[in-house]
Amino acid sequence: MPKTAEKGRTPQRLDKILASQTDLSRSQAAALIRTGRVLVDGKRARSADQKADPDRAEIVIDGQPLRYEKYVYYMLNKPAGVLSASRDPDRPTVVDLVEAGGGRKGLFPVGRLDRDTTGLLLLTDDGDFAHRVISPKSGIEKIYHARLDGRVTPDMIQRFAEGVTLADGTPCLPAGLRLLEEGDAPLAEVAVQEGKYHQIKRMFGVVGLGVTALQRIRIGGLVLDKGLVEGACRPLTQAEKGLVLRAKQAKPKNAE
Ligand code: URA
Repeated sequence: MPKTAEKGRTPQRLDKILASQTDLSRSQAAALIRTGRVLVDGKRARSADQKADPDRAEIVIDGQPLRYEKYVYYMLNKPAGVLSASRDPDRPTVVDLVEAGGGRKGLFPVGRLDRDTTGLLLLTDDGDFAHRVISPKSGIEKIYHARLDGRVTPDMIQRFAEGVTLADGTPCLPAGLRLLEEGDAPLAEVAVQEGKYHQIKRMFGVVGLGVTALQRIRIGGLVLDKGLVEGACRPLTQAEKGLVLRAKQAKPKNAE
């Protein structure tokens, strides 16, 4: 049975439930159970391998009811210099950041941002959700702000709207491009519905522009929380989770 289907639907060991829902390790959870601090359906639990259905059982730790959440969803304001990966022996990862910010174990990033890219990154332990967000078939827009080393022309906007072909021949879906700031280092907004490797940088490369800084500011209808400083994270609300999955947004005005 796949891991995601098993989770929360069949009785699980009590130490495992506690470890998945709190910041306790399995052995710390087992110690808590042994010392009689955990109640299951009103009865004192005695052993870590006692089974409970986490969806139904009323579990209380030191008088505090445990609210079982099958999956969790976090928004991270990713800083530059951090890898979009679960673990790395040498370098800090986005999962390290979210765990340090109180996130539970077993999280992974929903897609990847380059090491030097900043902004909105989602982390979850819900594989189906992640797949829906990433899949181009869902049509969920990802919006980026790109600082560029040259001028954006109407021809470039047209080429993005038609779908750029990358240097290696890979075709991209139509994308929105609009200029936000002119000047020596123009700022442009790009809307894409897919997440190919280095996609934004490679799309601009095809039209002769370099990206000097890249930030993701929106996924679907969910905008990066301006109150989150770089490196900080917070859980999504139910409403925000729904916003992520909202596929179609109004197109940028000059993308037609
Ligand atoms: N496109 C890129 O080039 N880099 C990212 O990090 C995300 C999209």
